[in-house]
Amino acid sequence: MHLKGLTVVIFGGKTGLLGQALTDAFRKAGAKPIPLSSVDCDILNPLEVERLLDKKDPDLLVNAAAYTQVDQAEDEEEMAFALNATAPPLLAVQAAKRYIPFIHYSTDFVFKGDKQTPYSVYDEPNATSVYGISKADGERGLLKLGYDRTLIIRISWLFGPGRINFVEKILSLCEGRDKLTVVDDQTGSPSYAPDIATHTLNLIEHDATGIYHLANSGETTWCGLATAAADLAKSACTIDPVPTSAYTTKAIRPAYSVLDLSKFIETTGITPRTWEDALKTYVLKDLKKQPIH
Ligand SMILES: NC(=O)c1ccc[n+]([C@@H]2O[C@H](COP(=O)([O-])OP(=O)(O)OC[C@H]3O[C@@H](n4cnc5c(N)ncnc54)[C@H](OP(=O)(O)O)[C@@H]3O)[C@@H](O)[C@H]2O)c1
Repeated sequence: MHLKGLTVVIFGGKTGLLGQALTDAFRKAGAKPIPLSSVDCDILNPLEVERLLDKKDPDLLVNAAAYTQVDQAEDEEEMAFALNATAPPLLAVQAAKRYIPFIHYSTDFVFKGDKQTPYSVYDEPNATSVYGISKADGERGLLKLGYDRTLIIRISWLFGPGRINFVEKILSLCEGRDKLTVVDDQTGSPSYAPDIATHTLNLIEHDATGIYHLANSGETTWCGLATAAADLAKSACTIDPVPTSAYTTKAIRPAYSVLDLSKFIETTGITPRTWEDALKTYVLKDLKKQPIH
């Protein structure tokens, strides 16, 4: 599918971390993105969604909207399920009605994290948190609906410009402290939102459907990611590793959730750059970090 001139409705495209990167990428590719926030259109309201799609008449529907507060989801189960499990199949029904591609995002948190090798697209979800279970339910709902122009992209550990994220949080903490502790026994694949957006377009250009895994290449721990970011910013703050047990959170997170990218690489012929390379772009170019003293 060629993207030039296509109208693309992007839920989450105005205010979401990934959505904003998608809006940029579609615009750069010559498409006409229509970025939306929850104020513009509430995906929990099927009538509002239908009216919007009738009016905008898109060639492509992208859902980058979700309930993404992993710990808060443990207390707001109903809202997490409404947004992550109930809404996606309803959006796909609207795409099916118009026979346009439907692109949806999921997460490495659909996995429990008890493997020691990267999770393949053929591994069965077995989430442990409300967030992960709700996202897995959303995937299942889409697969059950069986609309053949559905693309589900699982991503992980997202960072990038446009919305507060782990890397930005760490760097601002580094500015006010000389010591930090960060969890060092959870391993995953950091993903730079603009790279995920570009590679989403690569998949669409290849008419990909079904489930894909997408992240930057390589793996690290939260402590590894924090240390690399602080090093790039030339921060004097020391970052010490701690086990998950030292940092209690409401949601249980996977100890290991590296995504196997081989299906993406086979389909597109593209190997995503390393997370270290992408982090350099984010810290030095997007955040324009000067050495911190
Ligand atoms: N962040 C990560 O580390 C990560 C990791 C793996 C997978 N993912 C997945 O990647 C996707 C994008 O995540 P993200 O971090 O970019 O999300 P995000 O920054 O938290 O943005 C969520 C977006 O959803 C919109 N939204 C929320 N409720 C809505 C509603 N009722 N109707 C319409 N829009 C609504 C928000 O709009 P408002 O601003 O108006 O509320 C916002 O634009 C999600 O599917 C997420 O599960 C994220």
